[in-house]
Amino acid sequence: MRLNAFLARAGITSRRKADELIKAGRVTVNGKNGQLNSNVDQNDQVALDGKAVGAQKLRYILINKPTGTVTTLKDPHGRKKIIDLVNISERVVPVGRLDWDTTGALLLTNDGELANQLMHPSFKVNKTYTATVQGELTEDKLNKLRRGVMLDDGPSAPAQVRALTSSKIEIIIHEGRNHLVKRMLGTVDLKVTALHRSIYEELDLTELRPGQWRDLTKKEILQLRMVK
Ligand code: URA
Repeated sequence: MRLNAFLARAGITSRRKADELIKAGRVTVNGKNGQLNSNVDQNDQVALDGKAVGAQKLRYILINKPTGTVTTLKDPHGRKKIIDLVNISERVVPVGRLDWDTTGALLLTNDGELANQLMHPSFKVNKTYTATVQGELTEDKLNKLRRGVMLDDGPSAPAQVRALTSSKIEIIIHEGRNHLVKRMLGTVDLKVTALHRSIYEELDLTELRPGQWRDLTKKEILQLRMVK
């Protein structure tokens, strides 16, 4: 792997900042100055300012995101960050975004390759949401949502949609566009008052209260790697 990716995975810093450390001559590989295009593996001795840097264990975490938390790593408004709820030494980051007021299943990992795969539009990760809405829920509206509705950044893909009660609908999508569910429902005059992601691919929130998290099992990680 690239030297900057190795440093990022070791929890030192981001890839971009790692490049600055490399350019500044602070990183060595097997005793020689590291280069931006250096490739390293577990057998190489990488050091920063003379101190050995070890590869980080890969972690895959499912958290039940509470409302009022941001999924970004920095927040200019000083709001609570989801990563602050996961107190571990590895540098995990959220896979995709949920809005500040959205609750539910969120994956965090330091496996950049899997994260990129899951966020790539060509991989169809199923995300199941329950939306509490204001407005009349009609079969005609549900059908429109099922077929796909026109949004300012293009049409939404066909979705599975069903009414759970007169004010709650379940919607299963695989796209990852910003505020997608709220915008889709907005086109049929449904205002979302609460949004919860109950399932991310096969991962549900059994035994996780808001704010709680757990590591994925080996089987769950393999299943995520198989998503196409
Ligand atoms: N769609 C939204 O509108 N918000 C989310 O947080 C996720 C999907």
